[in-house]
Parts: sequence; structure tokens; C-alpha cells
Amino acid sequence: MPLPRRSFLTTQDFTRRELEVILATAASQKKSGWKALKSKPKLALLFFNPSLRTRSSFELAAFQLGGHATTLQPGKDAWPMEVREGVPMDGEAEEHVKDAARVLGRFFDAVCVRCFPKFQDWATDRQDAMLHAVARYAGVPVVNMETIVHPCQELALALTMKEKMKKTDGKKFLLTWTFHPKGLNTAVANSAALISTKMGMNLTILRPPGYDLDPMFMDQARENARANGGSVEVTDSIEKGYAGADFVYCKSWGNLAYFGKWEEEKKVREPYRHFIVDAEKMRRTNDAWVSHCLPMRRNVKMTDEVADSKKCLIIDEAENRLHGQRAMLTHILG
Ligand code: CP
Repeated sequence: MPLPRRSFLTTQDFTRRELEVILATAASQKKSGWKALKSKPKLALLFFNPSLRTRSSFELAAFQLGGHATTLQPGKDAWPMEVREGVPMDGEAEEHVKDAARVLGRFFDAVCVRCFPKFQDWATDRQDAMLHAVARYAGVPVVNMETIVHPCQELALALTMKEKMKKTDGKKFLLTWTFHPKGLNTAVANSAALISTKMGMNLTILRPPGYDLDPMFMDQARENARANGGSVEVTDSIEKGYAGADFVYCKSWGNLAYFGKWEEEKKVREPYRHFIVDAEKMRRTNDAWVSHCLPMRRNVKMTDEVADSKKCLIIDEAENRLHGQRAMLTHILG
């Protein structure tokens, strides 16, 4: 079933059936290879933040589909960009996103954007202004390479779970917060909540008190669970969280009440170093698979013992970034 040409901003814009089509294409391309697209897709990759996996896998996917990717880092090798409307541009920004996006839309078949929150004010950052501005002005499909969600990581995670568990429906998916020396973006945690519930799983979020995800994403996860036969639970009990889990996904994220004030948050975060994923906790599970999106600080988020065990899927999931994105591009640009 071909999908219509469109943007890939969040998996919430796609039905489960449509996501399953992309995942089936990814699995088939991974097993049997892929064909270049007649359209030879040309991608602009706008990286406002660093990357290892996303940049490599998108550049490679464009090449494998017979196309080309141009990587631009606004503020580094491309002009710093303004996103606010109607302001006098007398600060750092040399050009407005409405001009830059329209130019890129004339050159390229798709514009892909990585733009993390600015970590000043969550009420502002949760609007995801840069991504939506590029989508508004580019005139071509836009792909989210991580903003306040990370839908491409969701594809890789879903593909990895399907490879290992076959059926995801009814399985217990534990999303566990882990310690990190800095307050981090909530994007991957939001995304893990969205894709696990979309895949019919029973989501348990294990986090210290105060580390709740934005209600907007919790509502979406609950709606996904209702539609796909799963459930959503939140706990601060490590014992309860790990008990009977089939899949453990770990991630650190910042406390939204201290958003951007990470030095202040430090004293709140410090008592929770013991949320690290270790072998003792994994023994409470249903012989669960475990993964993380990477990059991952070993022996802070996950012990070496778990990370190097046969149940750990961090490298498989990272590889599946390429297969998931190539399949997604095949559908939205093919
Ligand atoms: N997981 C992920 O997006 O990795 P990068 O930040 O290296 O792209």
C-alpha cells in the first residue's frame, strides 16, 4: 500500500496501519535490499544540534535511494536562523526561517530538521516552533529528526521490538528514567510513550516523583492505548516497574518544573542515581529485552554488564535507524 506524499513530523499523524506498512517495508528492505527511487530524492538535513546516528543514517539512506543529502548546521556552517515572527532581527540570526525554508524547498524534495528545545521556557519550547515553521514554509515534505519528539527513533525502536518479540500487543513496556549529570530533552521519552502504546503495549513509566512527562504526550499515549488495546501506568516503585516487564527502555530526561535550570535541578536529581539499569533490576523482569536510543553514558544509565549482555539491543536499534528511515522516505517521497 503506497502512502501519500507527506511530512513525517510525529507518528501521531500516522495510523498504526500506516506505521506497520513503513515497518514492513523496513523489514523487507533490511532482508532483501532496496531499490533506488526514480525521483532520486534530494534531502536538506538541518542540524541545529549535534548527531552521530541521525546524520549518518539520513545521509546514507539518501545515497541508498539514489539521491543526495546536504547537511547544514545553522549557526555553524549555515546562517543562524530566526523563528519568531515580526521581530527586528538585530541579534545573532542572519536570516529568517521563512526565507531559508522557502529556498530549501526550491532546491530539495524534503527538508529534515533537528532542533532541540532552547531550554529556557518549556511553555515556549513545547510549541516546537522551528519544526512547524519549516513545515509551513518549505512547500515540500518535512521530516522531524528530533525536536520534542523523535519519531525516527520510534521507527527504529518499533522495528527492533518486532524483530525480537514478533507480537508487541499486550507486552509490558517499561520506560524507565535514569540519572544523567545534566538535565536532558524529553523527546525520546515522549516518543517511547507514544510508539509503545501505538503498538498495543502496556506502558509503565518508572520515574522519580516530579519527573512526569508533559500532559500533552501523556494524553496522546492514553489515547493510543485506548485505541490499540494497551494501558498506561506511572510509578516511582522500581520493584513494581520492573516486575514482569517484557521490554525495558531507559532514558534520562529533565524535570519540567526546573526546565533549563539544571543547576537547581541537580539537587533534586542527585538522590536518584540508583535508577541505573543493572542486572539485579533486570532479574525482576520477564527475561526482558533492554535498549536505549544512544548516546548512552555507561555505568550511569546502564551498567556494562547489562549493556554488553545478549538481551541488550542498543546496536540493533541504532542499525534500524537506517532501515526505518529509508523505508519512511521510500513511502513519503516515493
Ligand atoms: N539516537 C540519536 O538520535 O542519536 P544521535 O543524536 O547521535 O543522532
